[in-house]
Amino acid sequence: MASSGKDSGSKTAAINHYDGIFKFLHEKSAQESFVRGRELLSENRWSEGVSAFTEAKAKAQTSNDVNTIDLILQEMTRYNDNLIPQDAAPAPVDWSSVSKRPVVRYEEPNDRLPQGVFILSLGTAEPRRRLVGRKTLSNLWLKNLIPELFCSLVRPDMVLGELVDQRVTDHSYIVFYHPLDKPEKLQVFREIYAEDGVTAELSFPFPLLKTVTHKEFTSPAEGWQVDNAYDNMLSNGEVHIRKYTAQYLTSLKLNKPRLYDPACSTGIFLSMLQAALPDSYTIGQDLSRQMADVSRERLNEAHHGNALHPKIPLASAQAVFIRFLNSEVVTSAEAEMLLPPLLKTVAVGGIFVVLGHTPVLLSSANFRFLTDFRLERCVAVDIDKTGIFQYYVLKRTK
Ligand SMILES: C[S@@+](CC[C@H](N)C(=O)[O-])C[C@H]1O[C@@H](n2cnc3c(N)ncnc32)[C@H](O)[C@@H]1O
Repeated sequence: MASSGKDSGSKTAAINHYDGIFKFLHEKSAQESFVRGRELLSENRWSEGVSAFTEAKAKAQTSNDVNTIDLILQEMTRYNDNLIPQDAAPAPVDWSSVSKRPVVRYEEPNDRLPQGVFILSLGTAEPRRRLVGRKTLSNLWLKNLIPELFCSLVRPDMVLGELVDQRVTDHSYIVFYHPLDKPEKLQVFREIYAEDGVTAELSFPFPLLKTVTHKEFTSPAEGWQVDNAYDNMLSNGEVHIRKYTAQYLTSLKLNKPRLYDPACSTGIFLSMLQAALPDSYTIGQDLSRQMADVSRERLNEAHHGNALHPKIPLASAQAVFIRFLNSEVVTSAEAEMLLPPLLKTVAVGGIFVVLGHTPVLLSSANFRFLTDFRLERCVAVDIDKTGIFQYYVLKRTK
């Protein structure tokens, strides 16, 4: 179904609401300028892109679309302000002097982009050092490859500073921090890369809420629907995760592993892993009948059904990939509820990997004290060393 993905950031008929991280315009009148703006950005024609978005704003008929364009223009400014020049060098961090810097306050409305605020915990000694950051535009969005402003990758320029405190109000989340400068942010990431990310963790404590109901966003009850454009978009967002996973699985030297993805979406994820591990057997499952049908063409088996009731025997998979306990797919409460039945599908000696395009709604606190599992890592370092992303690996020990 999927072809290669340029222009994959453009609209898909499979999505008809754009209130989460997926940003498009509802009104046809402004769409043409908006799409042109995205193309211009992908050609590095930044100021022409800004003009096209401004034109789209002038044509927009609804406050919803005007707000979307305003938000994108603000995110473009934030991206530029935070960007670290290519030739910048890391500089050692003197943490005691950092802690004497004046505290900065950052507030994010809970219906804006709070799922972009992250805590980066470092080291093993308690209390762990905790930095706070806020995602900025994904390079995949800038290249017009995905419709969402953010992807899973966290780069050094997204760090704000050392966390001091956090607070929740009825309309926003607030964090306080001692700021880090750009060379210090580079140094933090240099140290994470040097240890291959084994003691770092990224967590996303603040869920996106709907403006009126204050409820979290979820998949529709019947699961996601897909068309060709959407198939491409979904695929583009996870390229770096698939590359890393293929390399990681290969390094484990598993013998004829059974790979299970209980919310397999289009099946691309498992099918790409099978390309790297030709003796593997792939089993998908999805809440959406249409997704199960699409993925059946790519996998050895695909089942239709809620992941709450796994369709594979207990303890039968050597690797289980959890890509749906994530922001805008399930609620935080559902994520905790779905975990226990899924853990039971892993064979002794097998791995359970929790990852995703949007933030994982669980953290190491959910995994550290499981008696049958050992937590091996919480993040992965991108193969190109451009950043890190959430990648919880649990190994079943008994
Ligand atoms: C895998 S997740 C995230 C998608 C990912 N970004 C991608 O590129 O495919 C999305 C899938 O989870 C499915 N899903 C959501 N809740 C589910 C559940 N409780 N059980 C099984 N599948 C579920 C949706 O139908 C959708 O196909």
